[in-house]
Amino acid sequence: MTVYAAQILKKLTTEDLRILIAIERGMSKYSYTPLNLIVKISGLSFNDAVLHLSKIHALKLILRRIGPYIGYRLNYNGYDVLALNVLSKRKTVEAIGSVIAKGKESDIHEALASGGVKVIAKFFRLGKTSFKQVKRTCFFVGLRRHTSWLYESRLAASNEFKALEILHKHGLFTPKPIDSNRNVVIMSYINGAPLYTVNELGNPAEVFEGIINNLKLALSIGLVHGDLSEYNVMLTPEQSTYIIDWAQWVNVNHPDAHNLLKRDIMNITQYFTRKYGIRSNVDKIYDELRGVMKR
Ligand SMILES: Nc1ncnc2c1ncn2[C@@H]1O[C@H](COP(=O)(O)OP(=O)(O)OP(=O)(O)O)[C@@H](O)[C@H]1O
Ligand SMILES: [Mg+2]
Repeated sequence: MTVYAAQILKKLTTEDLRILIAIERGMSKYSYTPLNLIVKISGLSFNDAVLHLSKIHALKLILRRIGPYIGYRLNYNGYDVLALNVLSKRKTVEAIGSVIAKGKESDIHEALASGGVKVIAKFFRLGKTSFKQVKRTCFFVGLRRHTSWLYESRLAASNEFKALEILHKHGLFTPKPIDSNRNVVIMSYINGAPLYTVNELGNPAEVFEGIINNLKLALSIGLVHGDLSEYNVMLTPEQSTYIIDWAQWVNVNHPDAHNLLKRDIMNITQYFTRKYGIRSNVDKIYDELRGVMKR
């Protein structure tokens, strides 16, 4: 299944999109953008605005509230539409294909870039409450009081895109960032399998070392992954390892950087001990890696 928004986008007119953008703008201040404000921002007549609103409401891109005032807000379908509209105009995405992974915080789809190149489209879906979610959210937005799912998802996408830009430029084994808008990141497709799904390794010690080296390189340019585990490492048929899922990275100067680094090292060493019997000294690796941390 493709994303709903990709099918719907084709049915929308410029006016429909203007309404969606007006609602999005209003949501920086209101949880439901008042109808009068939508009319004003969109520049459409009141009657036209109402007409287009009822069309996109029927298409399930927005939610309506009838209370002290009539207001509308985007749901994820509406937000995806706005992101895909920009990405397809820039020609970085031509088509969204089927879902290859559905997480708590993102949907990962295969997609086609111009020229028919297979890429990955990662749709962030933050804000569906769970304990992990709340923790993450606090992490992302710090002390800001504005914590809407829209803001969190946009922030997560731009965090991941920024990390991939820096890392890829420095030759780290990560997906290549291609484009990003709102809650969506487009990146190169890694032909491989997530490490946790691999049951046999020709040379586990070498694979382990490859991951630690990637970590070291990231640290030397100032980034701590912060969620490293066998779930966020992809292994190619050539046994190269790629580290993915960088949305929660922190700078080495972040107050939590050292703890997160230690947890990253623990997660990965414990996995290799459990599954492949490789014993390594976490403290030694930690000290060595701390030595390369750029400050
Ligand atoms: N660039 C890529 N190339 C190939 N497959 C990918 C790529 N990025 C992600 N995937 C696939 O999608 C899965 C989830 O990706 P990722 O770890 O980035 O999402 P997630 O945010 O962890 O989702 P969750 O909400 O479960 O935490 C990976 O395990 C992998 O199978
Ligand atoms: Mg992940």
